[in-house]
Amino acid sequence: MSTHLLALRDFTGEELAGYLRLADSLKKEAAAGVRHLYLAGKTIGLIFEKPSTRTRVSFETAMYGLGGQVVYLSGRDTQLARNEPLKDMARVMARYVNGLVIRTFGQEIVLELARYSSVPVINALTDLHHPCQILSDIMTVIECKGDIERLNIAWVGDGNNMANSWIEAAGRIGFKLTLACPEGFEPDPAILAAARREARCPIELVRDPVAAVRDADVINTDVWTSMGREGEEAMRLAHFAPYQVNSALLAAGKADSIVLHCLPAHRGEEITDEVLESSRCVAFDQAENKMHIHKAILLTHLK
Ligand code: CP
Ligand code: NVA
Repeated sequence: MSTHLLALRDFTGEELAGYLRLADSLKKEAAAGVRHLYLAGKTIGLIFEKPSTRTRVSFETAMYGLGGQVVYLSGRDTQLARNEPLKDMARVMARYVNGLVIRTFGQEIVLELARYSSVPVINALTDLHHPCQILSDIMTVIECKGDIERLNIAWVGDGNNMANSWIEAAGRIGFKLTLACPEGFEPDPAILAAARREARCPIELVRDPVAAVRDADVINTDVWTSMGREGEEAMRLAHFAPYQVNSALLAAGKADSIVLHCLPAHRGEEITDEVLESSRCVAFDQAENKMHIHKAILLTHLK
């Protein structure tokens, strides 16, 4: 198994299922009041060069919940902000901590950190991937639907980091994925091509959001303007307007479909307040499951 968790494609379907099973049992044990100190005496470093509420707090509470310690470093507070080479930061941090969790811009930054780090590196979001989030989301789908195999998953909106990681998951796990993205905002073509070569079920790219949700069991969306692309916001609002997940779009699909959003949400843009607050939307279960999945990831990579 890969030492690092940088992208979902680096893992087999069985390895991905392993995180999901472990997270499920840890969640049930936590609910039953069982306390584990599996990571007592261990410390992780969180290096965050973009803002975060859920990912930061759920990694911190996951680590504390397993008896471990956390050091949080905002990118601007380290010598990285004064151009210390990342390869030096990687080797220094690895002398202090047992694992590194990083949220940053380019995927190449995470790859370089992993190359020079002698401790496991976990990708907590880059411009290209958000692998840990998709594991939490799949866990949530399985809780709601019993399984994800053979389900129809729809992605509506930007072909962004979340979409890319869903595509990689579809390459490893047997579910059908249909993505509806506006022209010019498709997912990464190399990620899509690689996943299509390996997937057991179709991965389709369409323009029409109705075509994506018609047979969907799960409807997924995310912000139209991801972190780092704020300068494109006005242009994006115009392109994405037909891709809002609202009651009319839900009415075009199955009555028992569920809606996923990794949060933070921009109500009135990619999703309406009505849909986000409805019982069909499981965004807050996804948020909780991030902590259980992060426990499983930390245990798998650090133990
Ligand atoms: N979903 C997610 O990654 O949220 P944060 O940006 O708050 O970490
Ligand atoms: N696509 C979003 C996800 C935020 C959790 C972003 O990168 O900003």
